[in-house]
Amino acid sequence: MSTSPTSLPGGTWTLGDLTVTRFGYGAMQLAGPGVMGPPADRDSALAVLREVAGLGITHIDTSDAYGPRVTNQLIREALHPYPETLHIVTKVGATRDAQGGWPPARRPEDVRRAVHENLESLGLEVLDLVNLRLGDAQGPQPGSLAEPFETLVELQRQGLIRHLGVSNATAEQVAEAQAIAPIVCVQNLYNLAYRQDDELIDELAQQGIAYVPFFPLGGFSPLQSSALSSVAARLEATPMSVALAWLLHRSPNILLIPGTSSVAHLRGNVAGASLSLSGDVLTELDKIGR
Ligand SMILES: NC(=O)c1ccc[n+]([C@@H]2O[C@H](COP(=O)([O-])OP(=O)(O)OC[C@H]3O[C@@H](n4cnc5c(N)ncnc54)[C@H](OP(=O)(O)O)[C@@H]3O)[C@@H](O)[C@H]2O)c1
Repeated sequence: MSTSPTSLPGGTWTLGDLTVTRFGYGAMQLAGPGVMGPPADRDSALAVLREVAGLGITHIDTSDAYGPRVTNQLIREALHPYPETLHIVTKVGATRDAQGGWPPARRPEDVRRAVHENLESLGLEVLDLVNLRLGDAQGPQPGSLAEPFETLVELQRQGLIRHLGVSNATAEQVAEAQAIAPIVCVQNLYNLAYRQDDELIDELAQQGIAYVPFFPLGGFSPLQSSALSSVAARLEATPMSVALAWLLHRSPNILLIPGTSSVAHLRGNVAGASLSLSGDVLTELDKIGR
């Protein structure tokens, strides 16, 4: 199946000079359990990635920490040489330990190494967009991002990175990054039930900067809400569809990167996100996370 980008729900958005479909794909779920090691079914993982491209999706989110290296290698195997329209967004700032933890890796040498490893594993000479991942597994944490972010700016000046973003960041860290160099996106935890960044999303929208919610479907614990289930039943849709459609309605600068390891779920999510939500339904859904 092949779909033109503009026929995907939400249309397109411009990240710096890169046009991407607002309906993107998050590759993290393609690695093994706990985002460690290879997938149980490698062929299915490759099939999901080929379907992503076949559907006309032009934004894939990944990281060398997934696996580690596993999702980047799968992306390369499935899609390299990449179509010119496809933009792969990666992140640096965390590594993996033997227990599957995500220790920070934000010293200048860690950041440089991670950028070079992403280039190598993805088979690219330039990375389209690199997010500096901050905080920890508990969420954003206060503190200056200057040293690792300035290292990314240096790598950008060397021509290894086109655009920069931040992830798992506080509003203060977003402002600090912007005082150092332009950013084109912020990638933080946000969904229908978790609305900590409402104010930040609106501020970024005014500045023309994308907000890319991770865990749009609840991540490792699927979104559960009786209000969501009741709206979905009334609309004869799945809660996942309603949750994705709500994000597209929430603000024009929101880009979706739902994860899935299933071609059927991928197709269902693309179809479901085009659901039109009336003003009354939006008001009802708005109460879930307030
Ligand atoms: N910056 C960061 O710190 C950070 C942190 C976490 C994630 N991320 C990024 O954000 C992306 C999205 O997050 P995520 O993938 O963890 O969480 P998510 O998109 O909220 O949810 C993914 C989960 O939902 C399930 N799912 C998807 N579609 C479904 C459907 N139609 N029906 C039933 N289940 C469905 C998937 O299972 P199936 O595989 O069975 O479909 C998977 O378990 C990641 O892929 C990653 O790229 C970034």
